[in-house]
Amino acid sequence: MKVRFAGLELVSPVIAASGTFGYGIEFEEIVSLKAIGGFVTKGISLEPLAGHPPPRIVTTAAGMINAIGLQNVGVEDFIARKLPPMRRYPRCQVIVNVFGYTIGEYIGVIERLNDAQGIAAYELNVSCPNVHAGGMAFGSDPGSLEYLVTRARAAAARPLIVKLSPNVTSIAHMAKIAAAAGADAVSLVNTFLAISIDAQTRKPRLSNITGGLSGPAIKPIALRMVYEAARSVDIPILGMGGIVTPEDAVEFLLAGAVAIQVGTASYADPRATERLAKGLESWCRAHNVDRVASLTGALEIPRD
Ligand SMILES: Cc1cc2nc3c(=O)[nH]c(=O)nc-3n(C[C@H](O)[C@H](O)[C@H](O)COP(=O)(O)O)c2cc1C
Repeated sequence: MKVRFAGLELVSPVIAASGTFGYGIEFEEIVSLKAIGGFVTKGISLEPLAGHPPPRIVTTAAGMINAIGLQNVGVEDFIARKLPPMRRYPRCQVIVNVFGYTIGEYIGVIERLNDAQGIAAYELNVSCPNVHAGGMAFGSDPGSLEYLVTRARAAAARPLIVKLSPNVTSIAHMAKIAAAAGADAVSLVNTFLAISIDAQTRKPRLSNITGGLSGPAIKPIALRMVYEAARSVDIPILGMGGIVTPEDAVEFLLAGAVAIQVGTASYADPRATERLAKGLESWCRAHNVDRVASLTGALEIPRD
């Protein structure tokens, strides 16, 4: 079940996705942290953030919309209190999700993390609005993305995974920009911009009005984006978006992902990541797949 990418070695290709697994350690009594390949922390900023007021989550048909507002403890508290207990699980790779509202904030977080022990890689969340460029998300503007990734790559002392936003016209174009700017890998997809409206009250259901859609509702689109990104870049791809069953995970691997992340499924079943890691292993055994890595990009396109 081992996979390798960007200098990391994982015991399983199953990784818990950012924002759905806390800082990892909160899950130690729920999930066997030895069974999964790793997890991505909640997005970490330079200063602590309280996030948006509730309601911050609504359920939808086959998914959920969240507008948490990037609540987190801030980089100093993360390093001092959240990171050290994870050293009890040395094989569970800790990937730190990083964000900021300016390039300087992103770089500040990365520089601070560079000094800390027990981190395998950084995942750059580029879905944040760029306050210096009129509020358009870094990841939706090719020029901002290129500049941010170039600066982050120069600052990062560890592998840099760039988490692409799906709220773009061409995911292949954005993946190419990230790769050319020095990303060691790309992960996709983040959530899709969405809104939920209550017909009775005539009001939006989220305090922030709009939020990000995730879960099985987005799976076919996420899978298509992973497929397109995989055909456009040579760097490894981490795929996600609505993965619930081992078959879902296999589909993302076939589309070209080297590893997969599981987010919303943990809200329905907090043990989803462990269940998936074990389920994927059973699937491989049942289908005579000796190495899970052999599934990556093994999609067969019929030719006539
Ligand atoms: C409640 C919630 C919080 C999230 N917070 C973050 C975050 O802080 N940073 C980030 O890059 N992605 C965040 N995400 C996005 C997920 O990591 C993932 O990309 C997305 O939900 C799609 O995967 P899924 O359908 O398996 O949930 C969050 C998702 C949810 C549902």
